[in-house]
Amino acid sequence: MDSKKKIAIVTGANGGIGSEITKGLLKNDFHVVMACRNTENGKKVKEQILAELPGTQLEVMAIDLSDLDSVKKFAQEFKSKLQYLNLLINNAGVLFNSPRRNKDNVEMQFATNHLGHFLLTSLLIDLMPDSPNSRVVSLSSLAHKKSEIWFDDINCEKQTKWDVPYGQSKLACLLFGDELQRRLETAGKKIISVSAHPGGTDSGLFDHMPKILMTIMRYTFVPIFLHSTESAAKPILKAALDADVRGGEYYGPTGLQEMKGAPGIATRTDYSQREDVASKLWDLSEKMTSTNFRISTNSPSNERQL
Ligand SMILES: NC(=O)c1ccc[n+]([C@@H]2O[C@H](COP(=O)([O-])OP(=O)(O)OC[C@H]3O[C@@H](n4cnc5c(N)ncnc54)[C@H](OP(=O)(O)O)[C@@H]3O)[C@@H](O)[C@H]2O)c1
Repeated sequence: MDSKKKIAIVTGANGGIGSEITKGLLKNDFHVVMACRNTENGKKVKEQILAELPGTQLEVMAIDLSDLDSVKKFAQEFKSKLQYLNLLINNAGVLFNSPRRNKDNVEMQFATNHLGHFLLTSLLIDLMPDSPNSRVVSLSSLAHKKSEIWFDDINCEKQTKWDVPYGQSKLACLLFGDELQRRLETAGKKIISVSAHPGGTDSGLFDHMPKILMTIMRYTFVPIFLHSTESAAKPILKAALDADVRGGEYYGPTGLQEMKGAPGIATRTDYSQREDVASKLWDLSEKMTSTNFRISTNSPSNERQL
């Protein structure tokens, strides 16, 4: 590998928005690590991307974000192969319309979308050069507006609406992005944490929804309200790459109902901006991942790698 190349990890890079983010980063001269649950599929997507963008550098590494041991294994493998990290895009996500738990008995969307990324970030942050070009990007959603963090019901057993657990998990991603930024600032770091949402796009995210509903949606709602996955990746790429972006900002599409359109600052609920909630969530996340997520003040500051 070119020793001056910027390195990015994109979780869930083998599909939907993740593969579009990957292409965007390759076009910006990054070496991209596709962090995939299904590595066979990941390798096929890698070959497709290489056919489109020959000469770019990307590789596939295995991770299951719903499994804390798998996240730790990924971090070890990454550290054994690569010495630094410039961009971490916490993109992977799941949406379910019925209750599921991971092997630790945690609600699957909270486990995958939030806890796995919380642990992954804690294990890799010290590899990031201390510069505003070093970024952690957290993927949230318009769905963050549908929920609170149910500290007394984190598995959402008492919630009656099917989409509240997904909403909670995406709200957690947004609160985490903010709290990470505050803690980076407190530690005197220049690395930034930015959040973004893609609006709406017809991707693998909806594979668990009833087929009949999705067929109807694809003839009605989708063409009017949603945009392509390529467009949906743009707010995330802006958060990752734009020199004008500041830590703690939240980006999304600015068109129709914030579902589509050019990227810009996104709206968010008052609840999602509560520092007390974000701090409490951080403590809970440390407990649920058995992690002490501390940001050291002495990570590498090698400008050559920026
Ligand atoms: N699509 C939308 O309208 C929309 C709206 C708001 C927010 N988002 C967010 O955008 C992000 C990308 O979603 P998408 O629309 O591109 O969906 P997608 O096409 O389903 O892609 C999701 C990716 O996450 C991966 N993934 C799922 N569970 C995983 C796990 N346990 N470990 C590792 N990887 C895992 C999937 O891998 P597999 O191939 O193995 O399943 C897939 O590569 C998600 O965070 C989602 O919440 C999407």
